[in-house]
Amino acid sequence: MSTDPTTEATPLDAQIDTVQTEIDTAPLTSADEAEAFRIRFLGRKSGAITDLFAQMGAAPPEQRRALGQRLNALKARAQDRIDSAQAALAASGPSAATDLDLTLPGRVPAPLEPGTLHPLTQTLQAIEGIFRGFGFSIAHGPEIEDDWHNFTALNFGPEHPARDMQDTFFLEPPPPEGRGVVLRTHTSPVQIRVLEGQKPPVRIIAPGRVFRNEAISYKSYCLFHQVEGLVVDEGVTFADLKAMLHTFARAFFGGDVTMRFRPSFFPFTEPSAEVDIWWADETKPGGGQWMEILGCGMVDPNVLDNVGIDSERYTGYAFGMGVERMAMLRHDISDIRLFYENDVRFLRQF
Ligand code: DAH
Repeated sequence: MSTDPTTEATPLDAQIDTVQTEIDTAPLTSADEAEAFRIRFLGRKSGAITDLFAQMGAAPPEQRRALGQRLNALKARAQDRIDSAQAALAASGPSAATDLDLTLPGRVPAPLEPGTLHPLTQTLQAIEGIFRGFGFSIAHGPEIEDDWHNFTALNFGPEHPARDMQDTFFLEPPPPEGRGVVLRTHTSPVQIRVLEGQKPPVRIIAPGRVFRNEAISYKSYCLFHQVEGLVVDEGVTFADLKAMLHTFARAFFGGDVTMRFRPSFFPFTEPSAEVDIWWADETKPGGGQWMEILGCGMVDPNVLDNVGIDSERYTGYAFGMGVERMAMLRHDISDIRLFYENDVRFLRQF
């Protein structure tokens, strides 16, 4: 052992040796490890090298210079390891530096559930499917109608209650003040639009939205849907109408359906009838009574004359069915408002 106090190994030298071994062997393969390494050896408060520098003050003065040189070298060695580790991480791409693995599947808070068709859409599609099978084609008309198509051409008298502001949403006041532009109160104006553009034979259905200024309740809403039907040809009779609607009801509700025709009145049909379905199951909401599903009749000759079709040669039948009513009967739904609330707890059931 040397007697020169400046080169003599001190207790601090042994510690420096230990720390140096640790510096040389600590793993440095990620950004996290590099940061932990920096704190462990170079941290301002409790880093191992910082600690050794602090102890140097207690060493004999003649040894301090050599210790200081060793500690500075040790510090540089630690910093070198950090620098080269960071350079290596940067070179291997940003994913390694940030622990971001682009090949992992995306993180979605909750799986997105597939939607379903609205129960009214499903009911409408079922109705359309049956009539398509009978050779009907599908017609559409505007939801904003004029007085002619919604009322006058359909033989509505000037005093008819549907022409009243209380019952109908007018966008322009009725004549003589305005043109009587309305949110259509029924799909029957599509009959007029079709007959204005097409000569018999005609065999169409017209599904769509209609609007009435109703007091809202479990069975009435200011908006609902109808499917209009119209057949015009030579020799069409009331028996054809009955047979068609009966066949339709059996296809839609099942072979054991009970239905009745009840005399009624509509300005645009003569004679007119309404069709009820017997809702037998008294345990179900609305059960144990007749439910009206549609109005119908033979097209009034005045209507054919209004669109220039020879009412001596041609006859026709028409019907207008409530889609909400059909869906309520089909699914035991007791409140019409459920269709428009968009509550997923309701919609999910269909
Ligand atoms: N348009 C009528 C209504 O909304 C329903 C109706 C009745 C339509 C008889 C028709 C029909 O085509 O022939 O109450």
